Amino acid sequence: MELLDKLNWRYAAKAMNGEKVSEEKINAVLEAISLAPTSSGLQPFEVMVVTNQELKEKIRPVAWNQSVITDCSHLLVFAAWDTYTADRINKMFDLTNEVREMKNEGWENYRQQLLAAYPGRPAEENFQHAARQAYIGFSMAIAAAAFEGLDSTPLEGFDPNSVDEILGLKEKGLRSCVMLPIGYRQTENDWLVNLKKVRKPMEDLVTNYK
Ligand SMILES: Cc1cc2nc3c(=O)[nH]c(=O)nc-3n(C[C@H](O)[C@H](O)[C@H](O)COP(=O)(O)O)c2cc1C
Repeated sequence: MELLDKLNWRYAAKAMNGEKVSEEKINAVLEAISLAPTSSGLQPFEVMVVTNQELKEKIRPVAWNQSVITDCSHLLVFAAWDTYTADRINKMFDLTNEVREMKNEGWENYRQQLLAAYPGRPAEENFQHAARQAYIGFSMAIAAAAFEGLDSTPLEGFDPNSVDEILGLKEKGLRSCVMLPIGYRQTENDWLVNLKKVRKPMEDLVTNYK
């Protein structure tokens, strides 16, 4: 199947059957998240992979009681940095130097530029920026899951503060922003599975400037 066939096959699953997904497939999804581009390469988010059933049971009531939370195999919780700190920025720049085994003046100047701009901004502004980067990884995960023949449900319908509390994210300087239950569709109980995909016409999406 081509990528577009897989994206057409994909839908926001409303019911999952509890079947376990192999570690190999989940690792492929996580790898795709890791390969997502992010602003300045900072990767300002982490992914919590929840397979613990008790934790899933705790999260479900604060997530509009959506059954996919407990019936998925792996619940991915995308959690963005609560702010940008000098330490966090330096860590990524140092890692780049280490991996590339070089120090580059232009790159070091760019480090100073970010250090001068980001840590002084309001935490909320920084979190919103970091969350946008998390959504790029989230989008990659959705596509990668489909590529692996896995169902998923993009999920914003939850109370982030409660999820942060359940997973102890505040202590880690993180805030949950979006979740992705991954598993296998439960065809007989899913009202959406056989309905046509609805998308606005391409001309309402794309404007060409030729
Ligand atoms: C950021 C985001 C949040 C969403 N939150 C939920 C949700 O909480 N529950 C749900 O059932 N679907 C949720 N959806 C699924 C959308 O409703 C769905 O993707 C959209 O209607 C298009 O349908 P399709 O994904 O089946 O093609 C969310 C989608 C996105 C991208």
